Amino acid sequence: MVSRVIPVRSFDLVIFGATGDLAKRKIFPSLFRRFLAGQVPQDSQIIGAARSNLSRKTFSDLVKNSIKNVNELNIKENDLKKFLKCLNYIQIDATGSDGWNELKKVLRPSKIQAFYFSVSPSIFGSLAQSLHNYEITHENIRIVVEKPFGRNLETSKQLNIILSEHFKEEQIYRIDHYLGKETVQNLMAIRFGNMLFEPLWNAQYVDHIQITVSETVGVGDRSEYYDHSGAMRDMVQNHLMQLLCLIAMEPPARFEPDSVRDEKLKVIRALDPVAPHHIVRGQYGSGSDHADYRADVDNKNSKTESFVALKVNISNYRWAGVPFYIRTGKRLKARTSEIAVVFKEKPHSIFGPEARNHQNALIIRLQPDEGITMDVTIKEPGPGGMRLIDVPLDMTFSETLGLDVDAVPDAYERLIMDVIRGNQTLFMRGDEVEAAWRWTDPIINGWIERNDVPKPYDSGSSGPYDSLNLLEREGRKWREIM
Ligand code: BG6
Repeated sequence: MVSRVIPVRSFDLVIFGATGDLAKRKIFPSLFRRFLAGQVPQDSQIIGAARSNLSRKTFSDLVKNSIKNVNELNIKENDLKKFLKCLNYIQIDATGSDGWNELKKVLRPSKIQAFYFSVSPSIFGSLAQSLHNYEITHENIRIVVEKPFGRNLETSKQLNIILSEHFKEEQIYRIDHYLGKETVQNLMAIRFGNMLFEPLWNAQYVDHIQITVSETVGVGDRSEYYDHSGAMRDMVQNHLMQLLCLIAMEPPARFEPDSVRDEKLKVIRALDPVAPHHIVRGQYGSGSDHADYRADVDNKNSKTESFVALKVNISNYRWAGVPFYIRTGKRLKARTSEIAVVFKEKPHSIFGPEARNHQNALIIRLQPDEGITMDVTIKEPGPGGMRLIDVPLDMTFSETLGLDVDAVPDAYERLIMDVIRGNQTLFMRGDEVEAAWRWTDPIINGWIERNDVPKPYDSGSSGPYDSLNLLEREGRKWREIM
């Protein structure tokens, strides 16, 4: 498979928070890979902006090291050298006056200009205000903001208000990196590029849907942030909600930003409140090489969840009565993200009662080993009568398409290029984020009111027993995490 690289127009990209973790882990390595692929024109300018007093050389070394740390590629010094020529650095005080005039001077009005707010949301307002005060903003610039976009409905509304004072919605790119993943986009291709699935994609044929995003890592060095967030805010309100929307939404009229986002919003608005007995929260225990959650976050009374499983209902014509089971957690058995659409049992078994219990399932695997599997029922080969077995029709993309997985752009690569191209389809709109919080808030507030304590679970397991029971008591079963 040959991928097609369409270069973007050359640009000035300012990264506020350029010495921070996200910039080092994701933004610079992603830009470098797109540069290597020939998508970033050599006369583009990447301007790091941060509080530290760094020389251009020191900044360039920082970027070089961050690229070397992340890319497993054999990096050619010459390529790196060419890329580093695109860099510039300006010491800037987000809340004061230092650096803004210098920044204005280096920006080139003829180029696309984008400003990446890779900083705490608490300074979004100051940055927006300074961009305005120093007359850097104009209607063609774009700003990029990261999650967490607020920690509840109230704070997300405030952020939207702050940003909307200086930018139009068409200028604001709210990143949810799950939307940039290859297979997440494939969800739309599978649903709306094939005639096969759409007629079956409804309550008449679908028994239930499972969405699992499991991780093997713990909270790492983000313990303070995580202990104030938990899995519900960190993963469900954004990543899992987006997956649910793409699975459940009506076909948009066009693959265009507002058509897609309108349909996603309708799904979020149709979500029922979740009853307490349809929620399971968990907290991981210790393992052979790591401490338990409470020690990791250094809070022995923490009631924050590192795992959550929910049964969610969508009250609309297409999905009424079809449960969506979603779960996510840290320190689980394996790193895997997948969506399983489990179809109903056939209405009648012509092969007798023992041939029942064969349900077709379409599995969309997001990571690792991206691909699609369809479980179909066939006759077991050989003599012995009509015995049925389920086999997977397997389309792992790396094998079927001869795809070099390393060459597929990572989510951030794709999303940053979309910012430059001015395509908002894979970014969240303000009303979408607010609607997601409107649904999430009562769940979190319910825990606080009930003084809910998460159930402990073994590290390396599939989560608390109660989460298995969430399905088993309804005669269903989670797919193995593997
Ligand atoms: C982030 C969360 O948004 O997504 C992290 O804050 C989580 O806690 C990460 O580990 C998972 O992303 P991915 O791409 O590794 O599945």
